[in-house]
Amino acid sequence: MANNFMYYTPTKVVFGKGTETQVGELIREQKCKKVLIHYGGQSAKKSGLLDRIENTLKEAGIDYVSLGGVVPNPHLSLVYEGIDLCKKEGVDFILAVGGGSVIDSAKAIGYGVATPGDVWDLFEHVKQAEACLPLGVVLTIAATGSEMSNSAVITKEEGGVKRAYDDDLSRPKFAVMNPELTMSLPDYQTACGCTDILMHTMERYFTNGGNMEITDVVAEGLMRTVMKYSLVLCENPKDYEARAEIMWAGSLSHNGLTGCGNDGGDFASHMLEHEIGGMFDVAHGAGLAAIWGSWARYVYKDCLHRFVRFAKMVMDVQPEGKTDEQVALEGIEAMERYFHSIKMPISMKELGVSPTDEQMKELAHKCMLATGGGKGSAKFLKEEDMYAIYKMAL
Ligand code: NZQ
Ligand code: ZN
Repeated sequence: MANNFMYYTPTKVVFGKGTETQVGELIREQKCKKVLIHYGGQSAKKSGLLDRIENTLKEAGIDYVSLGGVVPNPHLSLVYEGIDLCKKEGVDFILAVGGGSVIDSAKAIGYGVATPGDVWDLFEHVKQAEACLPLGVVLTIAATGSEMSNSAVITKEEGGVKRAYDDDLSRPKFAVMNPELTMSLPDYQTACGCTDILMHTMERYFTNGGNMEITDVVAEGLMRTVMKYSLVLCENPKDYEARAEIMWAGSLSHNGLTGCGNDGGDFASHMLEHEIGGMFDVAHGAGLAAIWGSWARYVYKDCLHRFVRFAKMVMDVQPEGKTDEQVALEGIEAMERYFHSIKMPISMKELGVSPTDEQMKELAHKCMLATGGGKGSAKFLKEEDMYAIYKMAL
């Protein structure tokens, strides 16, 4: 059954080699007065990308200020700093140069400047944004899809609380995507990115609330393509074609395309991971790989037809002479073997964290609160289910 849906992707995508040279022109089209260039720790500086971007702005006659220092699992404190700076300098456009963390920090700053009150209230879901400064992106890691998505995920350092806020107001005006810029990524970050890309489509795929054949086929093609080229990148991180396939897949996987006609998706694995990220500051993709197998084994019986289809269409499991349950379980095992093949963890131990029983109870409790009581479409998870999955994932 096809559910009604709204598909909204207003982001102009400029894709390919050398496209970062067009940034000045792209910003000029936005008719803004002053830009905040927002970036991360070191990579954009070290590679010379930041200098190149500043030059295109200078050539286009665009005034700007800069704020770096965004860390993975971006911090609320820097968001506040960015809001103050933008207000002081009269910034009316934000350019994020980096990955999901930089883009999300830019989105949060944009909300904070344009919406009165404390921006954290949005992430606590006690109020809705009224507006967001327009923003553009120069993407340096294929992973979150934040360059086209309506999500921002921010961590409040105090208490290690990681929360998402979704609103179309923050969808970037443009995304510049040069796959060559991702060639300097450490292998681990490339693999984390590929995992996140896969998971954004898997979250939309394992549902009980209806699907469309066209969406399923797009989703399956995307997942197979990401797996194929992630393995190419393990052998040759500088393979341009593989970088390009993965980069475009990252955007398509989280711009809504692979969920059209479904019921909104499952997204429990993401919510379970966000709590682990908030408490232990792990890389998002690795956290997802560490939790997924346990989630899948916990829920598959409640969503058997989708796990069987996934096993056959994505993981090439041969169904002859096997029960549906056997096929589903073989699909889960094959996915975990794939995660291992790109050096991703499939347990929290492999992820490098070992929460105590108390901490797992806290993770489950926070996850229940963050999800407003529970989450999931493959199976609706309550707090005790979340705790059970964390335990299984040890
Ligand atoms: O800070 P620098 O020095 O740039 O280093 C970064 C960082 O250490 C490095 N990196 C990025 N591009 C590079 C590079 N290193 C070398 N060469 C390059 N070209 O990679 C590290 C990770 O960067 P980060 O931006 O944190 O990665 P990612 O894009 O995976 O973003 C993760 C964050 O996004 C959130 C995650 O929870 C996490 O906080 N998510 C955002 C979503 C969204 N907005 O739609 C959805 C996702 O599900 C996710 O939750
Ligand atoms: Zn994700």
